[in-house]
Amino acid sequence: MSEALVLDVHARFLEFATPYLDEPGDGFAYRLKIEHTQQVMALAADISAASGVSGRVRLAACIAAVLHDVGRFPQYKQYRTFRDAESANHAALSIRHSLRENMLKSVPRDIRRLVLGAVYLHNVRTLPAGALGPEALAVAHILRDSDKLDIYKVMIAHFSQETPAHPEVALHLRPHPTAYSQSVLDGLTRGETGDYRNIVWVNDFKIMVLGWFYDLNFRRSCQLLQERGYLDTIFDTLPADPPLLDLRQRIKGHLARRLQDA
Ligand SMILES: [Fe+2]
Repeated sequence: MSEALVLDVHARFLEFATPYLDEPGDGFAYRLKIEHTQQVMALAADISAASGVSGRVRLAACIAAVLHDVGRFPQYKQYRTFRDAESANHAALSIRHSLRENMLKSVPRDIRRLVLGAVYLHNVRTLPAGALGPEALAVAHILRDSDKLDIYKVMIAHFSQETPAHPEVALHLRPHPTAYSQSVLDGLTRGETGDYRNIVWVNDFKIMVLGWFYDLNFRRSCQLLQERGYLDTIFDTLPADPPLLDLRQRIKGHLARRLQDA
């Protein structure tokens, strides 16, 4: 039953997203977001299954995964950027367009509420955890972990290109082999979640993405991160200076401890 509901919403999502591929340009940005959505769906199902959450939470998380970036399509079409600060909050756009296109038509009202809450909160820096019920919190956590895990992959694919063909993936930041902002590293060291508004260099983005690791909520998410080697791959592309080597050691130590926790 629940699988069919997810597929129904996914079919509606594709109906909405596919025409964007015919927009002027090579369609790369839209294709990237369609693929990202499908990867996030698979990750949400994986993390839900491995984490023993209820069927309702699993269903809501998978549907939220389908809809979380619906707003990216109209955002890119109108503004040609994925930077929310320079365009619009894409999570709010996702809600607006999902509702306008009736994508949740077949989804029961109680699940719908969980889905919309998680979509709305998927890109906030810090979740208002105290304001959410346990189910809403679990759905938001699954979506945020799944989203982050796939962004790691997208970023790595992007950074591995000598001359990235699509600089919008790294938000048009300035590439430089060794430059990064001390303030971004300091923020991470203080345990703060990075802020897109403060990043200047491509390396700042990589450092911010590394910091997301501290925000992962499930052991399974840490396991996936480890299995896929994302942290090492990103660190290998950063300058090997003492502050970053120290950060690497701390993050790897933290990951090892989280994987040991039962
Ligand atoms: Fe998003």
